[in-house]
Amino acid sequence: MKNPLALVLILALALATASAAQAAPPRLEKHGSTQQLIVDGKPFLILGGELGNSSASSAEYMRRHWPRLKAMNLNTVLAPVEWDLIEPVEGKFDWTSVDELLRDARAHDLKLVILWFGAWKNSMSTYVPSWMKRDQKRFPRVQVADGSSVEILSAFSASTRDADVRAFGAFMEYLKRVDGDKNTVLMVQVENEIGMLPLARERGAVADRLFAGPVPAELMRGLAARGEKVEPELRERWQKNGRKSSGTWSQVFGEDEWGAEVFTAWHYARFVEALALAGKKRYDIPMYVNAALNRTGRKPGEYPSGGPLPHLLDVWKAGAPSLDFLAPDIYFPNFAQLAARFNRTDNMLFIPEANNATNSQGPANAFYAFGELDSLGFSPFSIESLGDAPNSLSRAYEVLEQLSPIILENRGKGRTAGFRATIGEDGVVIDSPVKKTLGGIEFTVTFIDPWTARDKQTIADHGGMLIWDGGDDFWFAGQGITVTMRGVDEPPMVGIDIAEEGVFDAQGKWVPGRRLNGDQTHQGRHIRLPPGQFQIQKVRLYRYR
Ligand code: DGJ
Repeated sequence: MKNPLALVLILALALATASAAQAAPPRLEKHGSTQQLIVDGKPFLILGGELGNSSASSAEYMRRHWPRLKAMNLNTVLAPVEWDLIEPVEGKFDWTSVDELLRDARAHDLKLVILWFGAWKNSMSTYVPSWMKRDQKRFPRVQVADGSSVEILSAFSASTRDADVRAFGAFMEYLKRVDGDKNTVLMVQVENEIGMLPLARERGAVADRLFAGPVPAELMRGLAARGEKVEPELRERWQKNGRKSSGTWSQVFGEDEWGAEVFTAWHYARFVEALALAGKKRYDIPMYVNAALNRTGRKPGEYPSGGPLPHLLDVWKAGAPSLDFLAPDIYFPNFAQLAARFNRTDNMLFIPEANNATNSQGPANAFYAFGELDSLGFSPFSIESLGDAPNSLSRAYEVLEQLSPIILENRGKGRTAGFRATIGEDGVVIDSPVKKTLGGIEFTVTFIDPWTARDKQTIADHGGMLIWDGGDDFWFAGQGITVTMRGVDEPPMVGIDIAEEGVFDAQGKWVPGRRLNGDQTHQGRHIRLPPGQFQIQKVRLYRYR
């Protein structure tokens, strides 16, 4: 460069661009059929864990847990911010709990997803400040059929909504001020597991009047736009009642509790929309809501009704368009089936809560969610109550972290697959093999390890993922899976050219370990990821006849 001034200008511009990328808030960006979470200019995969509900209320309590969470190879902690702690006196905010959370997460090089425990937490309204709890007149509770009330704030009270909007807005504004240039907080969950109990819809003068009125045109338009893609349970209900484009709630969705639940879902969604809108105006980062899933066979009112449940996703999409996605908390054993319902073209999958009581199955679910369903993240609940690392989650996250650049690059491009044994809602494990085609090759995956005694098999824990890296190259990762291959066209036979185990080093460079052959590939017949050790294998295949 001849002109030194030009060089200085170019350098200054490069620095400004780099720091702008650094300072830009976390955002979602289209990537193939899904979205990437962009943090500090780079895509980010959430290897998370959610804290038990009360843990973050005490920095002292958390002190010994932060290093443990880091040692578990988490990159993100999901932690509540409680309304009662931040606004103990109406209009006066105390940010101590938020400051401590940010300070401690940063000190341990961990990101946060904040859970806004506002008007509702697991249906109930126990996290609202005491000035609200004690003023039932201004902040009315849900009325049930006999006129008595439950400890759930009514979704029809403007004073409750406005108070929640103010507090949440103040929090988001504060967050922008203290974290806007640091990006510790990646996303915010608005409320927690909203749902109506013990009825499908609340009673009382306002609720009854609205329920007797027309279904809002926005909802009808939202359903019409989705057409045949409306989730089957709602579509059938709508169809059964004449697929009307207008009418009262009962006329359009039916007289029973399932119809009433649609009304509940719509009004919860509208309430949350007001929060998301106000929050994003202050600090525009991704926001979502989470669902307490319903067990098959239970009716609305017998489970927390009206949340962003699989059968109500279209109602929530129409009612709360400012949310970036709707997310399932998955505690039931049929993880794969439930997670799949949230992976739609208009909804990216993220699992804010997964069962940790079945901890040994968690890794298989994580590999499945990332490989098969393009999940943005995975996060077992009450993470600090897991035993110290190394544990099965920390071992799985270690492998997923190493692979994350390749996972991120291939997300939403139909080049990845996830495998785990199918488990029913009743917990029964089906041990049949699973097939998947990638890169012109059909892979058959079995979860019963050929070299482990049958009675020692824990196939519910076995799982993994496959990534097609283009051409003949594939990455396999996980544990307890054995994979055979066949071409889907000519030539049909597939052999293993090279298979090696290895790790990615801190710079992201592949460091091969053993070259796998002979007994380790059953003399070229299969790729095997043995049970009990999560690993990555780099495999080059070839075709012959
Ligand atoms: C789901 C809730 O979202 C969490 O806050 C917690 O209450 C768990 N259930 C407990 O299992």
